[in-house]
Amino acid sequence: MKLLIDDANIEKIKKILEFYPVDGVTTNPSILAKAKRNPYEVLGEIRSIIGEEAELHAQVISLKADDMIEEAHIMQKNLGKSTYIKIPTIPEGLKAMQVLSSEGVKITATSIYTPLQAWLAAKAGADYAAPYVNRIDNLGANGVEHTKMMQDILRDKSCHTKILAASFKNSYQVQEMCAYGIGAVTVSPEIFENLIKNSSVNEAVTAFVRDFEKLCGKGKTMKDCM
Ligand code: G3P
Repeated sequence: MKLLIDDANIEKIKKILEFYPVDGVTTNPSILAKAKRNPYEVLGEIRSIIGEEAELHAQVISLKADDMIEEAHIMQKNLGKSTYIKIPTIPEGLKAMQVLSSEGVKITATSIYTPLQAWLAAKAGADYAAPYVNRIDNLGANGVEHTKMMQDILRDKSCHTKILAASFKNSYQVQEMCAYGIGAVTVSPEIFENLIKNSSVNEAVTAFVRDFEKLCGKGKTMKDCM
């Protein structure tokens, strides 16, 4: 399962990249608004930090298919052809996806709340379908179960679309995605820390150091205990 950062804060992205095995960065207009800078400037900086091989996802703002298509072309020109263009999964978006996918543009169908939206996005040629797990929970439904159903639908051999699950409120939801073979998750910096935060682990690691120092002396490691 691919692991992406759902944020546009440069410092936070750099900090996560230093430690975690990350496959890319996703943004949306609300995330870019928090950066309070020109979107192309921020996205360009993110690209230079993550490198050409990593995934970068950025969303169109237009609500009409023709405008979405034009916007996608301009975004590709400015951000590179490997950029995934996020398109809302509304009827106009499905229309745009069909045109853009036939041109080979990489598409992430976004704002997905239902399995039928994911199915339609797949039929329209999207590379990823991005369900909002926690936002689905907040509608009184089960975001994890909805996403699993989407995965079952997209398992069809003729379908190349993968799930890019988004909007998590805890690490358990992410683990559920891992266990079900979801294609990718995008996780906020806050949830990133919770993927591995565990006081028992810290205690175990500290005890190992303490015991070794009792054996070989303070500050000693396998580098210098000969
Ligand atoms: O891009 C979609 C995702 O970032 C939404 O997350 O936390 O705003 O529900 P959230």
